[in-house]
Amino acid sequence: MVMATENREEMLKQVDDLIEQHKGQPSALIQVLHRVQLLFGYLPADVQIKVANGLAVPLAEVHGVATFYAFFSLYPKGDHTISICKGTACYVRGSSRVLERLEKELQIKAGQTTPDNKFSLQVVRCLGACGLGPVLTVDENVHARLKTDKIPEIIKKYA
Ligand code: FES
Repeated sequence: MVMATENREEMLKQVDDLIEQHKGQPSALIQVLHRVQLLFGYLPADVQIKVANGLAVPLAEVHGVATFYAFFSLYPKGDHTISICKGTACYVRGSSRVLERLEKELQIKAGQTTPDNKFSLQVVRCLGACGLGPVLTVDENVHARLKTDKIPEIIKKYA
């Protein structure tokens, strides 16, 4: 997922216009970040700084909002998104071990994307299949009653 330079410049221009419309208005933060997320597919660090300066919001607050809402991503998304559930039911059935195995196999931490842009890994709070835990989804597909040794096989299926 390589972004062409001219595309990026065009998107940065749109961000500048957006900031201009909301200059010095901290209350517009979520709205502006939402637009940035839609434009870039994530919230690039340099754009977060631009937004913080333009809206007169501390950078720490921008980062706080960006990490609080699941809709926002700090990294470009990969071709496939793996969501591992750490809700209570999955947690007590060992989802932490499944996450550890995923991080080991993919060599990234939760919240990151593999360098080849194939996989993004995220932790979610409940996937609505609590009786089948531990559960993960790869895009729209549910994988239930997970055992850690199933992880390489699941990843291979989407690689
Ligand atoms: S707690 Fe994992 S699916 Fe609900």
